[in-house]
Amino acid sequence: MNILSIETSCDETAISIIHTNGLFPHATYTVLGNALFSQIDIHREYGGVFPAVAKREHARTLVPMLERALSEAKLLIADEQPLSHEITTQLSEILTREPGLDAALIHFLEQYAEPQIDLISVTSGPGLAPALWVGISFARALASVWNVPVVPVNHMEGHILSSIFDGSVIPDLLFPAVALLISGGHTELVLMRNWTSYELIGQTRDDAVGEAFDKVARMLGLPYPGGPEISKLAAIAREKNLPLFAQLPRPMLDSKDFDFSFSGLKTAVRYAIQNRELSEHDRASVAREFEDSVTTVLLKKTRGAIDHTGAQTLIIGGGVSANTHIRETFKNYFHKEYPMLTVYMPPRNLSTDNSIMIALAGHAHAEQALTPTQAETISANGNLSLQNT
Ligand code: KG4
Ligand code: ZN
Repeated sequence: MNILSIETSCDETAISIIHTNGLFPHATYTVLGNALFSQIDIHREYGGVFPAVAKREHARTLVPMLERALSEAKLLIADEQPLSHEITTQLSEILTREPGLDAALIHFLEQYAEPQIDLISVTSGPGLAPALWVGISFARALASVWNVPVVPVNHMEGHILSSIFDGSVIPDLLFPAVALLISGGHTELVLMRNWTSYELIGQTRDDAVGEAFDKVARMLGLPYPGGPEISKLAAIAREKNLPLFAQLPRPMLDSKDFDFSFSGLKTAVRYAIQNRELSEHDRASVAREFEDSVTTVLLKKTRGAIDHTGAQTLIIGGGVSANTHIRETFKNYFHKEYPMLTVYMPPRNLSTDNSIMIALAGHAHAEQALTPTQAETISANGNLSLQNT
């Protein structure tokens, strides 16, 4: 079947079309079209993501992304035909909260023939509620005009599948598996006893790790998003072996649970740098010490979770898993100390938000798809937990 997937949970507007052959998890997948617009340049001006701006940008770019994804998939066939008044009214009703999106979609639908799409998969949470709503309304609008079922999916499940997907198949996992999910909104250790079964065994008590990267970067005068910037500076400090500017704590390193806390670390950076003139080298040294602290804590907690659960597989996912130092440290450590453990990390292009992962999660839950009428019940849940997926 052909799945059209929509991701709008934060600051990426993404639409993919994936052809699937077989049932999850034993299917083969072909990415027919993959369109992504990153709003980062827009949010950079504000130093972070503002939900109202993200919502406006999603509404502005969803139709162009749909057009690009369908065109790549060779499913965009020109066929000019006016829509009936009944249909345009219905679309405007569904999209009533997304100004301008109805007109753009109606214009698009009047230009092209109905593509061969069998299922629409859309992120319903977690994320920024106003941003999520745009994607959900758009999914409902397409579902109603094409009469296609819709499946709402959990963004974090998407990150897990994104990490193990090799571009055409989902590998056979040895269970139990532990997933370390590190992103701008989440820091979680999740136990999987089987496919689509998730138990949250640890999480951050305050800031998410990506959020801490972004906030510390801001204190150091670096642009948004801060993760890649900190990573670059830290690499310079390691390469030049720069002296330590200030020692930072390793929060909750010795606590007996699998929880995290990063807000104290962020505060420690603030105290270390306040009222001081920082040289380029000082900033690089702080970035390195911060990255070292985060990596040490993530590694120890993950190791604890693996020992505790007897996991045979480790999956690392979420935007922060693009971090070179974290990737290398985990790879080297587990390769040496846990040679029987299979470790998955996403390819870099699938580590941050994308819609391929939303198609995979949609396929995993295809049997729970809702009819276009039932899809009215889908609502955005900014705090959606993996446990209820
Ligand atoms: O998963 P994601 O794209 O969006 C959310 O679902 O939150 O993650 C975005 C987060 C941002 O906080 C960003 O700074 C961080 O991932 N990030 C990184 C790196 N690349 C992105 N953090 C550390 N090192 C990186 N190389
Ligand atoms: Zn994400």
